[in-house]
Amino acid sequence: MYTYTRLTPETISPYRGLTVPAYAKLLDQSLENLVVVGAAYFWQPVGLVIATLTPDARYAQVISLLVIPEHRGKGVGAALLAEIEKHLHKRGCQQADFAYLTATEHAAAIEHLLEKNDWRTPQTVAVFFESDVETYLKSPLYTPQVILPDGYEFFAWADLTPQDRATILQRQAQTPGGWFSETVSPFIQEDRVEPINSIGLRYQGEVVGWMVTQRMTPTLVDYTNLFVSREHKGQSLSILLVMEATRRQFEYIKASGNDQTATSRSLANSKWTKMLMDFAGSAFKVQEQRVSTKMLQDKDEPPIVTILPRIPENFPS
Ligand SMILES: CC(C)(COP(=O)(O)OP(=O)(O)OC[C@H]1O[C@@H](n2cnc3c(N)ncnc32)[C@H](O)[C@@H]1OP(=O)(O)O)[C@@H](O)C(=O)NCCC(=O)NCCS
Repeated sequence: MYTYTRLTPETISPYRGLTVPAYAKLLDQSLENLVVVGAAYFWQPVGLVIATLTPDARYAQVISLLVIPEHRGKGVGAALLAEIEKHLHKRGCQQADFAYLTATEHAAAIEHLLEKNDWRTPQTVAVFFESDVETYLKSPLYTPQVILPDGYEFFAWADLTPQDRATILQRQAQTPGGWFSETVSPFIQEDRVEPINSIGLRYQGEVVGWMVTQRMTPTLVDYTNLFVSREHKGQSLSILLVMEATRRQFEYIKASGNDQTATSRSLANSKWTKMLMDFAGSAFKVQEQRVSTKMLQDKDEPPIVTILPRIPENFPS
């Protein structure tokens, strides 16, 4: 007999092992912005689903869903998902997103489960590229020195001056519709900015672009904040920024004597992501991060927010 219960700080402890350590740590804190449902078989924990909520509770992300192998294929996953949807609906949540990676052996089961529970067709939102130093150095992406057209130069983002920052913000405010999209702003979550390979691009001394990366996990660097000003398009400057940032990342790993693999995440559907896949796909293990959405209050409503999903680090199988 399976039972499904919304967990509280008092009842959560036996379920902590049913997610990755990073999310288990979240469960130790206040559960105020989380909804957590456990599945038990004759009182023994067999499954867990966790969703995070924005402070206004309008938007949720299902960050973890796990059923232990012995109880898979019996409808527990689908029931957990249906149960958490009910609790999210009760909290007034309008939209829930569910993110997963395509390279996991469970991707087909997840997609089936989402479809069965009436979630929308998943969309690819980001692409992960994983490689090690040796493979990268042999790839067409590597060059010992990235050559820029005349007048351009790279600089370490850590060397951005207060004057540069003021100029960027002023131009952003003065350009109708914005100079750059806020999703690629170099000033979001600055505590995460990775100094080893975040770079800016100057043209005749003025900042005209950047590849500001963020450290998401010890081995994963996010390459989503890429920007080149409109009047400088058509010179492949964005791919050159990516090449230079990647070169700095791998040179750093090589110099540190660490042979770990490195993973980078970039936004899907960007021109350079496609180019990178054609150009250097062979040097990387490439997988997609997909997101499925469910509108919880009014089915026909268009999605309200798109937040780049959390990184599902080392999900247990
Ligand atoms: C994904 C997971 C939660 C599914 O749990 P589950 O309890 O087995 O799911 P259910 O039994 O409710 O439903 C699974 C459905 O997928 C189907 N399925 C299972 N494996 C499948 C596969 N490889 N390809 C296609 N469909 C598959 C099942 O037949 C079932 O469909 P049905 O009810 O129409 O027969 C479980 O496999 C798991 O914990 N995996 C590891 C963790 C993980 O990857 N989590 C997701 C990322 S957060």
